[in-house]
Amino acid sequence: MGTNNRIEVMHGVNLDQLGRRNPEHYGGLNFDRLEQRIGEFGRELGLTTRFFQTNAEHEFVEHLHRIHEMSDGIVVNPGAWTHYSYAIRDALEIAALPTVEVHLSDVDAREEFRRVSVVRDLCIATVKGQGVDGYREALTRLKENLQG
Ligand code: DQA
Repeated sequence: MGTNNRIEVMHGVNLDQLGRRNPEHYGGLNFDRLEQRIGEFGRELGLTTRFFQTNAEHEFVEHLHRIHEMSDGIVVNPGAWTHYSYAIRDALEIAALPTVEVHLSDVDAREEFRRVSVVRDLCIATVKGQGVDGYREALTRLKENLQG
């Protein structure tokens, strides 16, 4: 089983454009800074973080197909795919690792279509509306799940 501390942080479509998106919803950080902060949260918690981002749904799916070889748990923010991608949902089910869903914005307080998450019931927790700090909570939840 090893140390159970390898976390894959997966960002989906449009999250690489964070610095250009509405700061009211997404805060002021650009994507590089977001990943840096998540890496710092991980180190504070004794977790090893690896990062993956793509705007191509098939690349996201194929990464999930391989993920069990390199990770113990997943933090996933699929962006808009959250709301409709059954392909990503199925791939997450195949990955079969403890997963926490994160959204920077409060998806339940925005447009109606953002209230649906097709991955939520596969996840051990969903964290939303807390900006970058939500990732610290997500990593904490995963650590509890993995290390007891
Ligand atoms: C998001 C929320 C989604 O509705 C949106 O499409 C995103 C980002 C968030 O982090 O708040 O791209 O997942």
